[in-house]
Amino acid sequence: MSYALNPSVEVIATPPIAEARSWLNPAAFDSDTPLIDLSQAVPSYPPPAEVNAQLKSALDETSTAFYTDICGITPLRDRLAGHMTRAGGDVVGDDVLITAGCNQAFCIAMQALAGRGDNVVVPLPWYFNHRMWLDSLGIETSPVPFNAGSGVPDLDAIRRAIDDRTRAIVLVTPNNPTGAVYSNEYLHAVNAIAIEAGIALVVDETYRDFIHDGSDAEPDPHDLFKLDDWRSSIVQLYSFSKVFSLTGYRVGSIIAGPQMLESCEKIMDCIAICAAAISQQAALAGLETGDAFRRDNRKLMASRLSAIREAFAPDDLDWELVTSGAYFGYLKHPFGDAVDSFSVARRLAQQYNLLTLPGAMFGDGQDEYLRIAFANVEADQFPDVVARLRDASSNWKNNS
Ligand SMILES: Cc1ncc(COP(=O)(O)O)c(C=O)c1O
Repeated sequence: MSYALNPSVEVIATPPIAEARSWLNPAAFDSDTPLIDLSQAVPSYPPPAEVNAQLKSALDETSTAFYTDICGITPLRDRLAGHMTRAGGDVVGDDVLITAGCNQAFCIAMQALAGRGDNVVVPLPWYFNHRMWLDSLGIETSPVPFNAGSGVPDLDAIRRAIDDRTRAIVLVTPNNPTGAVYSNEYLHAVNAIAIEAGIALVVDETYRDFIHDGSDAEPDPHDLFKLDDWRSSIVQLYSFSKVFSLTGYRVGSIIAGPQMLESCEKIMDCIAICAAAISQQAALAGLETGDAFRRDNRKLMASRLSAIREAFAPDDLDWELVTSGAYFGYLKHPFGDAVDSFSVARRLAQQYNLLTLPGAMFGDGQDEYLRIAFANVEADQFPDVVARLRDASSNWKNNS
């Protein structure tokens, strides 16, 4: 090649899901061992029928073919603001910027907050795309050690990770990859740390609609937006991908105070001008018509979560479900230091047609773990998952 590439991008991780898929060889298995794909957090069901119906009529509107305002269409911004404050709080449409997915929301937010040489506090294990983006911008990641007990990062450890170059704390709740759900009190405590340090608290709530408290009611994950001064510290990121099964439409959002949003708007203008108009219509239709869909799929995920916890409950099982919730389980494999997580995940794919992601994709010190995403696996498949894992551990231990 006769030209140089940006070394900051060349060195970041390879797209992880694609890498894991390359390990598969489904042709090597008969119908007794179908592929069980626990690798990607994608819903297994189509979007709500009402969303599709509204999109068909949106195609006849000329405006659907055109740019929207940089921050998005007003009805969607207003509706999302209302959705986030169902139980009270003060968010208005002007606090919302619609993005092409939550990954883009993160990229824009980070670029608005920090630059080369700054750092951002991110608890381990982290969502790989977060780390990849920070690396590509030359923003350092200041890690918080994994709290393998609850999966909830220790508050003192967060304090210790902050220094005079820190610009933000990033939390993901419910968490990818651990599934841990952070309580309202905990989020307020981290917000207090952010305020004291004069930095932003960025909360990625891609999976907020999948918190289930055992009732039919939709729980409110937190009441941060009831704080009078939330705009001075909180930056909330959201995704329409999972809640309305719209991963291909690419639509998400940033909710933040006016100065932050002004910076985000500049970046959005340069990157995409606006999120695709048709995708914004899809998100709006979801919010307008998708309450029952959201409730039913929250219950569906909760039933899968119960099934997975039950499948991993036996005492004699040497694979430990360390944390789980919403969309994910974080699994400790039985090989300790002897086999790294890439080797374990690759062998499970190649020998058992079982696709998981290695813990090492989620940061340093995660080699004892695998991530399992259960959004596209039915509850009745978990006994088979556990049977394959049992077989793998006894085979590999006997052969080592
Ligand atoms: C924590 C987290 N943030 C963001 C995203 C990306 O969401 P979107 O499809 O809206 O870009 C994901 C998807 O897996 C995720 O797990």
